[in-house]
Amino acid sequence: MKKEFWNDSVVVITGASSGIGNALLEELAIYPCQLVLLARRAGDIAEPKSKHKDCILHRVTCDLSDPSSVRDAIDWIVQRVDRVDVLFNNAGITAHGRFDSLSMEVYQKTFATNFFGPVQFIRGLLPLVSKAKGNIVTTSTVSALYGVPGRAAYSASKSALHAALESLRIESIELGIGVSLVCVPYTDTALRTSGLDAEGKVLSEAPAKGKRKSAKEVAHVLMAVAKDKEARLVTFNLSGKFLEWMRFFSPKFLEKILYKKLYDDFKTH
Ligand SMILES: NC(=O)c1ccc[n+]([C@@H]2O[C@H](COP(=O)([O-])OP(=O)(O)OC[C@H]3O[C@@H](n4cnc5c(N)ncnc54)[C@H](OP(=O)(O)O)[C@@H]3O)[C@@H](O)[C@H]2O)c1
Repeated sequence: MKKEFWNDSVVVITGASSGIGNALLEELAIYPCQLVLLARRAGDIAEPKSKHKDCILHRVTCDLSDPSSVRDAIDWIVQRVDRVDVLFNNAGITAHGRFDSLSMEVYQKTFATNFFGPVQFIRGLLPLVSKAKGNIVTTSTVSALYGVPGRAAYSASKSALHAALESLRIESIELGIGVSLVCVPYTDTALRTSGLDAEGKVLSEAPAKGKRKSAKEVAHVLMAVAKDKEARLVTFNLSGKFLEWMRFFSPKFLEKILYKKLYDDFKTH
């Protein structure tokens, strides 16, 4: 019988205290595996509703925007597990504001959390991922596929991460690891109340209008991607594909649509 992919695996999840990361924890805890759960509020991560008796949880406090905290988290993990089968690089913040209203501190904080922290963390765990010939699965966003109005810092930090991880993917072909970027559409999570406004205050915005995914649905896609070494850039639906393709076929048309669709959003910031 084929071994269940997750059995006996070592899985690292950043941003496991809320939203998509927490949904990954809920979905994976039913397997006999080790889950290394990171967040600033790691100590508050509740026991999953349903847990296999041989599922081991490690809660590691880590602030991705603080290099010394990331270093400590890497050291902690390296001392306790001998390989990493899947690294869900999931934690992140959004930042809402126009290009010229976002403060430089917000640009820096957004990059510290969404780019420099993940790069440092992935670098630190790369030997353990390589040892397992494992997969690095990043929760990204459709806003990384084009600079979205009202989201300059967020779009830029995530698309910078795309470029860095594409480099990593090509450089590590011989290592046999997978590196994928999953561009998630609007999802029901705390993102719009955990991110930053243009001045750096904590956001307090209503959920995005229109159709939204549940965190559980997104977790299932991320788990499927984790099993597929060939996965590269994954989009969920037509709007993701539309952004991906229109960048090359007709950026002018795409910009018109983004202007119209997001006008209220970026005019108010
Ligand atoms: N929700 C959406 O519509 C949507 C769409 C596209 C992409 N995404 C992406 O999905 C990922 C997960 O976000 P979510 O939607 O699940 O939002 P969320 O509910 O706000 O969860 C964000 C997670 O990231 C962690 N985090 C934030 N800043 C951190 C830091 N400095 N250091 C360590 N951990 C940090 C948070 O934990 P602590 O606060 O405990 O540190 C939390 O567990 C993000 O990368 C986001 O960009 C979300």
